Amino acid sequence: MLSFKELAAVFNDYLGGYSYPSEPSGLYKPVEYIMSLGGKRIRPLLCLASYNLYHNNVMKAADAAMAVEVFHNFSLVHDDLMDNADIRRGKASVHKKYDDNTAILSGDVMLIMSYQCFEKYPEKFYELNRLFSKTAIEVCEGQRMDMDFENMERPPIDDYIKMISLKTSVLIACALQMGAVIASAPSKDAEHLYEFGKNIGIAFQVQDDLLDSFGKDAMIGKKVGGDILQRKKTYLYLKSLDLLSQEQAIRLKNLYSEQTLSDAEHIHEVKTLFKAAHVDVHAQELKLVYQQLAMSHLDAVDVEESKKQVLRSFAENLLDRSY
Ligand code: IPE
Ligand code: IPE
Ligand code: MG
Ligand code: MG
Ligand code: MG
Repeated sequence: MLSFKELAAVFNDYLGGYSYPSEPSGLYKPVEYIMSLGGKRIRPLLCLASYNLYHNNVMKAADAAMAVEVFHNFSLVHDDLMDNADIRRGKASVHKKYDDNTAILSGDVMLIMSYQCFEKYPEKFYELNRLFSKTAIEVCEGQRMDMDFENMERPPIDDYIKMISLKTSVLIACALQMGAVIASAPSKDAEHLYEFGKNIGIAFQVQDDLLDSFGKDAMIGKKVGGDILQRKKTYLYLKSLDLLSQEQAIRLKNLYSEQTLSDAEHIHEVKTLFKAAHVDVHAQELKLVYQQLAMSHLDAVDVEESKKQVLRSFAENLLDRSY
């Protein structure tokens, strides 16, 4: 069983050997650009780690790991366009560095490239494709809900959980299940690994929402307060409305419906209310609920405990992150 550091080295080697087509450069340079900005690479590493629960030759799962990372990067290119986000991984996002049409088309080609990775698995092609397509459609559904929420005053917290499950956690779940599928793991294990990823993914997105408001730009590589400016109905916003006094809650709702303050003042005012509500404490509790659920599914995976330790500690570190 390889450590996460060793798995990261395997995936980096694979990426180093990967060459993107050169022409037309206006299509492929932006692909190389976003892929080269790095990121945490959690999805491909989870795919490799899941495979590694059953077999040692993790390179066998590298193409599926690549599929999920290319898909993830595609979704970020389009997400930044949709979220008006100019900074990604500490650098200009693709639509900012190039232009909107470039972000659309280079994103499109990445989506197709991700599917091409499955050509390396002729025996598992159907199964991988079916899982990936289902997941990709769900991500679109989640992204649509996320945008719809911008114009809703107060979507229910249950709907927020549904939204983040779709936009974020199913892809993490899919990465883990693909590793199990390629390893020909028992289907019960594959399902538990999927559920492990799904619950980790929910906690991961709550953490992403927390960092968006309370992280440091330099650490998260995005603009702090981006969600607030975009009127995202995150857990921080929705739960604060529950926790604040009636007067404060009205103020928060008004801030989200008006455009009178400067960006900096708006972010400051909203964060002051989030802090007054101590919503971060509740967000941490919510994360813990899903983290524990995730671990119960990992417990149920039928492999030796020592092998599962890599996934266990990875999940713990991930949900404790400040980047
Ligand atoms: C960002 O994902 C988008 C979310 C689903 C929260 P990551 O936080 O995994 O982004 P990178 O790949 O590490 O940059
Ligand atoms: C991203 O959610 C989900 C997808 C890209 C599918 P966010 O919009 O919260 O991600 P960041 O914060 O921009 O990375
Ligand atoms: Mg975004
Ligand atoms: Mg978004
Ligand atoms: Mg975010």
